[in-house]
Amino acid sequence: MPAQERRPIVAGNWKMNTTLSEAIQLASDVREPLATLAGVESVLCPPFISLAAVRDAVAGSPVALGAQNCHFEAKGAFTGEVSPAMLADLSCQYVIVGHSERRALFGEDDALVGRKLRAAQAHGLSVILCVGENLEQRESGQTDAVVGGQARGALEGLEASAWDRLVIAYEPVWAIGTGRAATSAQANETIGAIRRVVADLAGEEIAGRLRIQYGGSVTPANAAELFAQPEIDGALVGGASLKAVDFVAICRAAAT
Ligand code: PGA
Repeated sequence: MPAQERRPIVAGNWKMNTTLSEAIQLASDVREPLATLAGVESVLCPPFISLAAVRDAVAGSPVALGAQNCHFEAKGAFTGEVSPAMLADLSCQYVIVGHSERRALFGEDDALVGRKLRAAQAHGLSVILCVGENLEQRESGQTDAVVGGQARGALEGLEASAWDRLVIAYEPVWAIGTGRAATSAQANETIGAIRRVVADLAGEEIAGRLRIQYGGSVTPANAAELFAQPEIDGALVGGASLKAVDFVAICRAAAT
């Protein structure tokens, strides 16, 4: 599928930010400007406790709701965890799995990430799977091997129909929250490498259809250049998604 036929997707990962009232305010502020934007799918990923309120704040608009994480079981004795069944029941359409902060700070490995991914999909959710290398790995030329290994580790054996409920976010760890985004050429090249891994796992047709975002210090200033690259199908946005005008500007850049 030619790049221009993949609909870009821009997701705001609010991380552990916003109180309930702040979340409602932010969702209300982006709702109208995003509602009129064709050509881009926009997703808000607030903290768990604000999912229901954000769902209500964007109800009736095309803005989608996503969670930042989930457990792999549907229910049970897992104190403090949130299940994919609960997220689906809340009308979440997306869930982020394998974010580098979860890998680095909470010890999540590819096997766990793959389990979460399958559980989420089994409950009808679409998954945003994050992959990305750290600075040392990039500087020693291991980028493609690292991101390819993470993709294979989570996606090997995925059944053909499940690929339609998947988005990959390429997020170099060194670019997240640092103000130092990958260059558009770096992002394009690595996303191309990820797409080749997907082609190897699932065939050219699925690889050509799969949306792969870039994430890491995306701002209104660098968004248009990133989105002009043929491999980049939108963004996973952290810091800039907490400012309504910035998130809307990034979505607008993806829509044009
Ligand atoms: P950032 O975060 O935009 O603040 O760099 C991106 C992310 O971690 O998803």
